[in-house]
Amino acid sequence: MQSMLNIKYMECIVINGSPIGIGKINFDLTEEERKNILDLRYIKKIEHNDPLISENSSIFKDKKLERIENIMSGCVEEYKDKILQIKNKLRLVHSWSTINNNTNHKLHAHKNSLISCSFYLESEGKNKIIFKVGKSILEKCHYLDYDIKEYNAFNSENLTINIDKGMIVIFLSDLEHESINKGKKIMFGSNYFITGKLGKQEKYTYLEI
Ligand SMILES: [Fe+2]
Repeated sequence: MQSMLNIKYMECIVINGSPIGIGKINFDLTEEERKNILDLRYIKKIEHNDPLISENSSIFKDKKLERIENIMSGCVEEYKDKILQIKNKLRLVHSWSTINNNTNHKLHAHKNSLISCSFYLESEGKNKIIFKVGKSILEKCHYLDYDIKEYNAFNSENLTINIDKGMIVIFLSDLEHESINKGKKIMFGSNYFITGKLGKQEKYTYLEI
């Protein structure tokens, strides 16, 4: 398992109150890992110029990918502990791989998940992920055509992150995003959901998931 000490930084950018954790890892795929990833079966949806996406949505069941899984789950735990500040336990619910070559992934969010993680194992060229909230918190108050001095967490409808190799981007799964790639990249995605006991009997909120 790669140590958390290899994280160069983990910063938090906020859009409309929704926190996006961004980390940078000193990371290189081993030749064997790269071969295992390329040997996965992929689906290609030609009509949308989508990336190749692994047919399997539980790729981390394969122990050959355990090193990558551990890096991602370690960063997600840090996001949960230090940014969300919740004690609840998480469990992995989905894991997949995409291969991008001048492909775009249209706007979407991740259902049946609380926290999502994207790990960019390789990236060459100009690749970006764009988060979109529709209306900024300022526009939700009054939907006016404001004259913005400087875009920030309160007045922005979009947030663009340029992708480099080794970057990890962690976000709440309901946050809509798209990716636009003018280059090549290999990404691993993973989704996590709360597990265990929540709430209290006396508050009529007890739930075990
Ligand atoms: Fe996504």
